[in-house]
Amino acid sequence: MDSKKVNTVKVHKIENLKLEAGGMRPDLPTFRADEVSKHDTNGSFWVTYKHGVYDITKFLPSHPGGEQILNAGGLSVEPFWNVYGNHKTEEVFELLETFRIGNLHDDDVVDHSDEELWAKEPARDARLLVRTRRPFNAETPPQHQIAHFDTPNELFFVRQHMPVPELEASSHKLRISIEQGGRSTSRDFSLEDLDKFPQSQLSAALMCAGNRRSEMNKEVKPAKGVGWSGGAVSNALWSGVYLRDVLLHCGVDVDDVEGKHVIFQGSDVDATGANFSTSIPLAQALAADARVLLATRMNGRALPPDHGRPLRAVVPGAPAVRSVKWLEAVTVSERESPSHWHQKDYRSFNASVDWASADFAGAPPVYGMPVTSAVCEPQNGARAPVRGGRVLVRGYAYSGGGAKVVRVDVSPDGGRTWLAARPTHAAGDSPGRHYAWTLWACEVPVQPGQDEMEVWVKATDSNMNTQPERFAHIWNIRGILGNAYHKVTFKLQH
Ligand code: MTE
Repeated sequence: MDSKKVNTVKVHKIENLKLEAGGMRPDLPTFRADEVSKHDTNGSFWVTYKHGVYDITKFLPSHPGGEQILNAGGLSVEPFWNVYGNHKTEEVFELLETFRIGNLHDDDVVDHSDEELWAKEPARDARLLVRTRRPFNAETPPQHQIAHFDTPNELFFVRQHMPVPELEASSHKLRISIEQGGRSTSRDFSLEDLDKFPQSQLSAALMCAGNRRSEMNKEVKPAKGVGWSGGAVSNALWSGVYLRDVLLHCGVDVDDVEGKHVIFQGSDVDATGANFSTSIPLAQALAADARVLLATRMNGRALPPDHGRPLRAVVPGAPAVRSVKWLEAVTVSERESPSHWHQKDYRSFNASVDWASADFAGAPPVYGMPVTSAVCEPQNGARAPVRGGRVLVRGYAYSGGGAKVVRVDVSPDGGRTWLAARPTHAAGDSPGRHYAWTLWACEVPVQPGQDEMEVWVKATDSNMNTQPERFAHIWNIRGILGNAYHKVTFKLQH
């Protein structure tokens, strides 16, 4: 073992505890890697991080990533955390140190440098609001959400779970498999083959199910996930071919959809070698008016690497997780995707379910999105100019499942009175087949001498669903579907 490497291993200082995560603890015993590796079962589960040895048996049931953690039994968590970089926070290091039982012998400490893994990440626009760097998760800044109906590609929000795979359009293949009664038939399509199907365009917003999680965290209590504000939604004009056409061409029967699913698999892999994957019900892809797209272009340009180059699914009206990027396989199956992203996330729970009581297998997967809206300008805490006795408030509204936003209401006085906002940009698609967002504006009257204002916004969709006032009753352990009224306070500049 190269002892120099051990000495240069980066450790993370935990301010309050006055110790370093994975640093030496002379007060604790030393273990060899062989000994640690024996503790890899639910009954006794140890992991290491740099010099630290941890008995995390009691933590297993509450791990937000579910059973994924079992892969690290008796081993270092570092290779996993290099992929799931969201673990590298003070909060997680602090929690880890509470399970500390010893030190790993000097000769067994390995430098799990993560540089190579991330060396090929694409260049990104500096205006994106970065939430995590590895994996890269970033929001569209609010002023850019309302500046364009179709968000410029470089400003479209980005949500990755792993490093971005590098794929060649010329050699890329999409494997379509159809499973039936224990048998599977497959066919590969190049992008040229896909091009032979009728070409379509679709104006659709993608919204991460966790959009606005940070408000939920603040108003109720912290939920697990990226701390998104309202910028995990953007809109684009997608081009490609309909999945429906390709599946019908492959012989899938439109009348045999009950209990069946379409599993999408991306080329990005986690530390265990598992590909990103999730699924939707087959009926959602095969309905006569289904608009699930196999997209190669975004706003008239080839998909950027961050958004799935060279091929992605766009499942409009669904949480954006179903729109799998770097799409390499589509499987029609009698079961949902077995991946932990599908089985252990993006499911619906009530506000009283906690990590100990959550029954993921019994919880409904989220395949649609509720109606929501947000103020993009003025932003919380900003100074807003008053002109002609009014302040201009602007934002977006969106609803899932093809519903169209039909009304946006703005209140300047805590819900006592409501003004009708006017749509400034909306798509022409009819309700039921409407997948784009709506941008809106409202000139709100200001009282003489008023120097601050709190505005509330809520939207109503074509199914007459509207937003709940508060997050309290819709909070959930994953912090998804946070669509309470958006409330913003700003200073008035007369
Ligand atoms: N597809 C793959 N292959 N890998 C991913 O990590 N993230 C999903 C989805 N598709 C993801 C993926 C999630 S959670 C979201 S919100 C959207 O991609 C984000 O799409 P965007 O980055 O193009 O905005």
